[in-house]
Amino acid sequence: MSIVVAIDGPSGSGKSSVSRRVAQRLGLAYLDTGAMYRAATWWAVHEGVDLADTGAVAALVRDMVLVMVVDPRGPQVWVGGIDVTAAIRETSVSTAVSAVATNLDVRAELARRQRAEIAFQCEPGSWADGRGIVAEGRDITTVIAPDADVRLLLTASEEARLARRAREVHGSDDAAAVEATRDQVVRRDADDSAVAQFLTAADGVVTVDSSALDLDQTVDAVLGVVERTLAAR
Ligand code: DC
Repeated sequence: MSIVVAIDGPSGSGKSSVSRRVAQRLGLAYLDTGAMYRAATWWAVHEGVDLADTGAVAALVRDMVLVMVVDPRGPQVWVGGIDVTAAIRETSVSTAVSAVATNLDVRAELARRQRAEIAFQCEPGSWADGRGIVAEGRDITTVIAPDADVRLLLTASEEARLARRAREVHGSDDAAAVEATRDQVVRRDADDSAVAQFLTAADGVVTVDSSALDLDQTVDAVLGVVERTLAAR
């Protein structure tokens, strides 16, 4: 029997670290859909396409050779034969990615690929050999996999999210680092929520608030929801 776990949430909610560890603990594949939007952005910039030219970006993304390595112990992202796993985390990509993530034709193409990957990991012979997948992003519980076995929204207060991102990006959560992070986090969530509704839980989606939890506690809380949801089926 395969399991699909869908996890959405805003930036700084701990979504990626938590989803990865949950996938590892359950022996499932791990798909970071935000990394796919980042890869598309990196590729468009690399190919010299103007991000404001929505038609050109969409055409480029339709032809993009994108490989997502779904092993949660070492997820990787390859575009056009280039390992971009580290490059897609750079600030230049983080600041530009909303322009690509709000391109509806890009969303349609990446949605198609995300659904295909989720279905594939539920089949024997895939990396997960049919065990299933943890897929995380902004629209997984609502648009990509509304029928997922477990649907979760991982939230955290704005204060907690800013402090986490500041530690990630600047290695500190002092006032200056938090201020330097604010625009990226708050503006990006505002831009992104125009196309995907991830700030409140949709019907049937369980909310886990990680504001007062560390990583291990959040992973345990999510695993608890998975266990209870599967037991209640
Ligand atoms: O989670 P992240 O910061 O890596 O996401 C990168 C961007 O992609 C961010 O602007 C939100 C967007 N995104 C999206 O619109 N839908 C998804 N399913 C995942 C990410």
